[in-house]
Amino acid sequence: MTAVLKTPSAIDMSAYWLPYTPNRYFHQHPKVMQSAKGAYYFDDHGRKLFDGLSGLWCSPLGHADPRIGAAIQKQYETMDYCPAFQMASEATFTLASRIVAMAPTGLDKVFFTNSGSEAVDTALKMAVAYHRCMGNASRFRMIGRERAYHGVGIGGISVGGIVANRKAFAGMMMPGVDHLPHTFNLSQMAYSKGQPTWGAHLADELENIVTLHDANTIAAVILEPVQGSTGVLVPPQGYLQKIRDICTKHGILLIFDEVITGFGRLGANFGADRFGVTPDMITFAKAITNGVIPMGGVLVRGDIYDAVMGQGGQEQAIEFFHGYTYSGHPIPTAAAHAVLDIFESDDLVNRAKALEPVLENSLHALKGKTGLLDIRNFGLSGAVDLVPIAGKPGLRAMKTLEACIERGALVRITNDTIAVGPPFISTPAEVEFLVSVLSDAIDDAMKIS
Ligand SMILES: Cc1ncc(COP(=O)(O)O)c(C=O)c1O
Repeated sequence: MTAVLKTPSAIDMSAYWLPYTPNRYFHQHPKVMQSAKGAYYFDDHGRKLFDGLSGLWCSPLGHADPRIGAAIQKQYETMDYCPAFQMASEATFTLASRIVAMAPTGLDKVFFTNSGSEAVDTALKMAVAYHRCMGNASRFRMIGRERAYHGVGIGGISVGGIVANRKAFAGMMMPGVDHLPHTFNLSQMAYSKGQPTWGAHLADELENIVTLHDANTIAAVILEPVQGSTGVLVPPQGYLQKIRDICTKHGILLIFDEVITGFGRLGANFGADRFGVTPDMITFAKAITNGVIPMGGVLVRGDIYDAVMGQGGQEQAIEFFHGYTYSGHPIPTAAAHAVLDIFESDDLVNRAKALEPVLENSLHALKGKTGLLDIRNFGLSGAVDLVPIAGKPGLRAMKTLEACIERGALVRITNDTIAVGPPFISTPAEVEFLVSVLSDAIDDAMKIS
């Protein structure tokens, strides 16, 4: 890979406001990527970096697969855009059918968005619209969960449970939102391999919330099956089934936000499959196009769609006043078809599944290292919590990330947690390399006080 090397100082960084990045720190410690191929990035120092988080959980097939590029190019030449309202391209219908075929039984409609955030806000609106169509207009409340990440729309931050994402925007939050407790408890589940055995009872809190507000005011519960952005928080055994049962009992819709966990990350098509718990809607994004071009969507139960159609009035009247200029856009649609072809031809979900024990064993072999508070894993994802530098939250993880880059791998940091989620095309040796880089980087970062 030939990259034109530019020193960071040669780049004018004055105009770009970086998202979810400490901009001032970044300007002092820039991380500039120049190219990507297979499971590797190449940065502006000429370093080859193993992609330990599949981009931002979105590139399980690695980078620059020519089959995706060819599909995009062909679609561009055939039809670069099709109005999303009142018309559609044939490939968008077939893509929806393919996604439905991969999904748990009963989820048989797809609404396309451009991102995970939009998918979440779409699902919340669908839930309220559905209840209204069923004659239950009083059901407007949403129940999220502490430490949840559901993107950055007003709906998503309202049901989300990351304090920093909410506090600056308190005045803009959706009304009528309550939160379940998160399920992470260091003293009960530190160093769990896979699902912790403790914590199913935390689902009972949903009954308390239902009692407090009255079931007839609650539209939906939204959960990530595994909380990804706050550091791969794995649901306790039995927890998701209990949530499902309580929702069913009270006529509350259950939405799984599978923006990270969808399309193979947990060694099954969806987290719903892996956990054997079927929600009423699934939001997805990221891996559907391998991160090459934005696309998201909502998988929804057929009878929810039917209910909304049933209230549409005359046939020429729009039933659901919602959609995006780029919903079902032909180019991401073509990319998604190519991605799903590759999933099938290269058996990628099974490859992810086969790598799960490799990641689990190598991560948990770090137990006992100085500086670690916890190690956890599920599917092809894992996380370690680090002892923070006193008075400087987040700096230990930042220094670990930088040491990883020095040593040849990229990881994801959130506060003082490091998350990993390698591409499904990785070899076992590459997964072990990632963890060995992480181990050495933690040693480097522990020298800082
Ligand atoms: C579970 C979950 N939901 C929603 C989102 C938001 O997706 P996007 O950044 O595409 O808007 C993310 C992003 O990481 C996510 O992990």
